[in-house]
Order: sequence, then structure tokens, then C-alpha cells
Amino acid sequence: MNGADRAFDHVLDFDTGPGGIINGDEQSAAHGLRPRYRWAWDKYLQGCANHWTPQEIGMAADIALWNDPNGLSDDERRIIKRSLGFFASADSLAANNIVLGTYRHITSPECRRYLLRQAFEEALHTHAYQYIVESLGLDEGEIFNMYHEVPSLHDKASFLLPYIDTLTNPNFHTGTLESDQALLRSLIAFACIMEGLFFYVGFVQILAFGRRNKMVGAAEQYQYILRDESMHLNFGIDLINQIKLENPQLWTDEFRQQIRAMIDQAVELEYRYAVDTMPRGVLGLNAPMFSEYLRYIANRRCTQIGLDPLYPGATNPFPWMSELIDLKKEKNFFETRVTEYQTGGALAWG
Ligand SMILES: [Fe+2]
Ligand SMILES: [Fe+2]
Repeated sequence: MNGADRAFDHVLDFDTGPGGIINGDEQSAAHGLRPRYRWAWDKYLQGCANHWTPQEIGMAADIALWNDPNGLSDDERRIIKRSLGFFASADSLAANNIVLGTYRHITSPECRRYLLRQAFEEALHTHAYQYIVESLGLDEGEIFNMYHEVPSLHDKASFLLPYIDTLTNPNFHTGTLESDQALLRSLIAFACIMEGLFFYVGFVQILAFGRRNKMVGAAEQYQYILRDESMHLNFGIDLINQIKLENPQLWTDEFRQQIRAMIDQAVELEYRYAVDTMPRGVLGLNAPMFSEYLRYIANRRCTQIGLDPLYPGATNPFPWMSELIDLKKEKNFFETRVTEYQTGGALAWG
């Protein structure tokens, strides 16, 4: 019987003993469909409550602005195109990582339900980028091959690939100190670095368009994506901390040093993306502001998984970003119109 069959059987069989969140088909058995990890079940419910689809967001204002020769500067157009190129490849990687990797190693039923929801959200995200590219009439070859062509995108993807390969390699199995550490390292790379750091220059840039009443449809798409990604990040952090709790032997001094070095390297790569996408100041932003912002975000990721901050004293130059994460769909999603962004209330671009 293969692993998938065993996991299915165990969901239906409540009688065997409990295991941990990793290395434990048995833990599914012990708890069946009842959530053992409440944090995972709550996120599954919240993810479902946050449902949205890209085509419900109007793109007419964006199309008019994009096609107006005086509508956007070359620097602004560069940001939009780079962002679509980066996010389209990153969200494809994310979907593969969840479905072909993480899902195989995390056997808890409620975690798997959340991972299925997360995988679907990654499909919505690539759908959103495709929808924006088609709406604006962009060259799909240029956008979707960009991570091969542009070093600042390529280097971020190259950084992530070994960690994703670990999880998706059919010959990789947990169960030893080294392999359990490799799993934990990959989960940290995926949640804290990919979803928790590598998306943030792009998020700030596109949401900065929306705050200036430009590319409001694309900005709204990204705002919903940011809300989903905040949930993905929080799930990833809870998962990492649960594994740490159940397997404290993994969290050695050497392992912590490795993770700190990884995060430090990732901050540098993301900063290079900021420099590449903003050769000059644009939209009230410039690359040096992101040096501080990325250090601030990296400190948060460190403390969220129990590491000391890498860059003590870093502050947030974009406090409006936290407000945008708190978007409440039930208040405004289905009646969202561009005009609502201009009249304040919960959706105001802070
Ligand atoms: Fe995503
Ligand atoms: Fe994600």
C-alpha cells in the first residue's frame, strides 16, 4: 500500500495511537476528522470565508491608463511588468511546492485541508496575473519568461529551488535528524522567505499605485493576494512552530545559525530586486527605503519563529501596509467599485 492509501485509511480509522505533525501517518488515525491542530482548522475556515476571484475585479480604468501614452511613466510600467513576471513564476513554484511537496510530508487532516485551500489560492493568484496580462494586452512571452531573463528575478527563484526540490524529491523522506531538519529548513524557506519576504517589495510597489489612484484594478487584485499570502505565512509559521514544539532536538545552535544566514542572504536578494525595479525614485518610493523595510520584515520573521532579530532597531517605513492586509471582504468585496477607493472607509488606500 502506498503512502497516499495509508493516509486515506487512517482518516477513517480512529483507533491507533497519536503521532506528531511529521513522521506520523498515525496521528491522522488518532484524530480522524476532528481537528487536533486548531490553528490549522481555523485558518482553513478563514481561508474559505475570504474567497474571491480575479474576474470580479474591474480592469477598465487600468486598461485606459495603460493605453494612454501619457498615463504612466516608463519607470512605472517597468514595475508593473517586472512584478507580473516575478509573481507569476513565484506563485507557480508555490503551488508545486504545496501539492508536490509539503502535502506529502504533513499528514494531519486539518493541515492538509488548509494546504488544499492554499493550493487553490495559488491558482487564483496565477489566474489574477494572467487576467492582468491579458487585460493590458502585454506580451505573454516577455512576462512569463522574465524570470529566465532578468537576474534580479532569476536569483530569487534560484535561491528557493533547492529548498523546494527537497520537499518535492520523491526520494526524500523524513524520519532522521538530518531529514527532519531539511524539512524544517525548507518550510522556513517557503513561508518566511518566499511568502514572507520575497513578495514584499512587489506588494508595496503595486499597492503604492493604488494609493495614488493608478492601476486600481491590479492594485485591488494584489490586495486580495496579499491578504491570502498573510494567511499562508501565518499558517507556515504555526506549522514551523508546531514542528519545533514536537521536535525540539531539531532546533540546534548550528541550525539556527544556518537559518539566520539564509534570511540575511534573502534580504540582500530582495534588496537587489528593489534596486532593479526602481533605478530612480517612483510613486513616492525608492530603493533605499526598502533596505530598512526588508530588515524590519526579516526581524519579524525571525521573532515569529523564535530567533533573535537579525537587524535590531529596524523600523517600518510603510505603516500603511499593515492596514491593507486587514481587508475585510464581507464589508466591501462584492460592491467594490473604483470610486469606493476614493471616498475613504475601510478600503481607503491609507
Ligand atoms: Fe500566492
Ligand atoms: Fe502563498
